[in-house]
Amino acid sequence: MSAPRQIRVNAFDMNCPTHLVAGTWRHPDSQASRYKDLGYWTDLARLCERGLLDGIFIADVLGVYDVYAGSNAGALRGGAQVPVNDPALVVPAMAAVTEHLGFGITASTSFEHPYTFARRMSTLDHLTKGRVGWNIVTSYLESGARNIGLDGQVRHDNRYDIADEYMEVLYKLWEGSWEDDAVVADVARNVYTDPDKVHPIEHDGEYFKVPGIHLSEPSPQRTPLLYQAGQSSRGKTFAAEHAEAVFMGAPRAEILRGNVDDLRGRLVDAGRAAEDIRVFSSFSVIVAPTASEAEEKRDYYRGLIDPEGTLVLWSGWLGYDLAPYALDEPLRHVPNEAMQSTAETFGGGRWTVRDFVEELGFGADGPNATGDPAAVADQIEDWIDSTGADGINLNHVVTQESYVDFVELVVPELQRRGRYRTAYEEGTLRDKFFGRGSRLPDTHQAARHRRDPAGALA
Ligand SMILES: Cc1cc2nc3c(=O)[nH]c(=O)nc-3n(C[C@H](O)[C@H](O)[C@H](O)COP(=O)(O)O)c2cc1C
Repeated sequence: MSAPRQIRVNAFDMNCPTHLVAGTWRHPDSQASRYKDLGYWTDLARLCERGLLDGIFIADVLGVYDVYAGSNAGALRGGAQVPVNDPALVVPAMAAVTEHLGFGITASTSFEHPYTFARRMSTLDHLTKGRVGWNIVTSYLESGARNIGLDGQVRHDNRYDIADEYMEVLYKLWEGSWEDDAVVADVARNVYTDPDKVHPIEHDGEYFKVPGIHLSEPSPQRTPLLYQAGQSSRGKTFAAEHAEAVFMGAPRAEILRGNVDDLRGRLVDAGRAAEDIRVFSSFSVIVAPTASEAEEKRDYYRGLIDPEGTLVLWSGWLGYDLAPYALDEPLRHVPNEAMQSTAETFGGGRWTVRDFVEELGFGADGPNATGDPAAVADQIEDWIDSTGADGINLNHVVTQESYVDFVELVVPELQRRGRYRTAYEEGTLRDKFFGRGSRLPDTHQAARHRRDPAGALA
């Protein structure tokens, strides 16, 4: 009988006042308004490393939620993912106060050119000594597309086609442009880098032309650990081709189980192993030393939930306006180019606006566990074992209180049950995830762009 799966945990946050739970920024102990202070992030990083979490994963959007009632006013009132600062810029400070914690940042393949993005990620991989990951998104907010001069959102599946070529450019830059020993720093010969060991990538594709060399010398992981979070059929194909970790959200275990099994099957079809990917499920926790205290806390939090802010977020995720809906009116799916899997999950007439505010109010499309440490640990174990996921993406209900409670009350309980690490593994983020070194395995398509010791393309 195989040992029970060690449960992995990422703290899921965003560089803004309200991430997934609208209204709780008003909690008297909320740190939400400190998102623009480095201290918020260094405090969070120290806390998560003390709790032996896998990492801090920072969501991001380039655009504003202006679907609800056809305006961005609700988003601004609720601080719902606006104002929002750049997730990458808080990583070096967090890396400076930690040793093992990983940092996953979200960045879109639909906005920044891969040539400049490649250097930013290599820089972060250098500065964190190989502890950075990238959540690859194609972006679902129309407002973002309009603000970079497009007439509207690029079609859903075409965004993934562009992302495929985007990845190809990056693999060529990260894996193939500089040989491992290109930098010689030879004072006597006055040579810093051997020009014969740095190669232009000569990429000339349908969407991108990048003839030259990568600007950065090889970083510890070269390619940052690759996260992704799309559950549509096209999204899962993309994940099977590229991702090492996938975030999935589902309100029911059977929905998630189906997506996890489908994804692992697609990895095998893509020539990879089913276990070559770590699946993190959206999840929120409300915990206290006793069940009654936890319920009291939940009821207090529930009183803070802002229905308008909640529907602002869901209108953005679904891609259509929820303002006209009555509380118990079943949703009718409106075809659009936003989050396809989310629209498919919630568009079938089973769900209502009330469900978003009441049942799912504590964290987008994932479950909430409330109770004393043992009860919460039970629910997390059940969810992991019944869905086949490897871990949870723990979003905060109130920041940073939700993370403090988890680290102090739930981590020791999971450790006592042998389901959670008691010390960090050595090495880079990728090494900690898979235990087979810092580089992508040869079964990953990025390896096609590497050079052999003689400098020839593999
Ligand atoms: C847990 C989770 C986190 C996500 N974080 C982000 C994010 O930070 N920024 C973003 O643009 N999209 C984010 N997404 C949305 C995905 O990138 C994607 O648009 C969505 O899952 C729909 O994919 P699909 O259209 O392939 O179904 C997230 C999705 C999930 C499930």
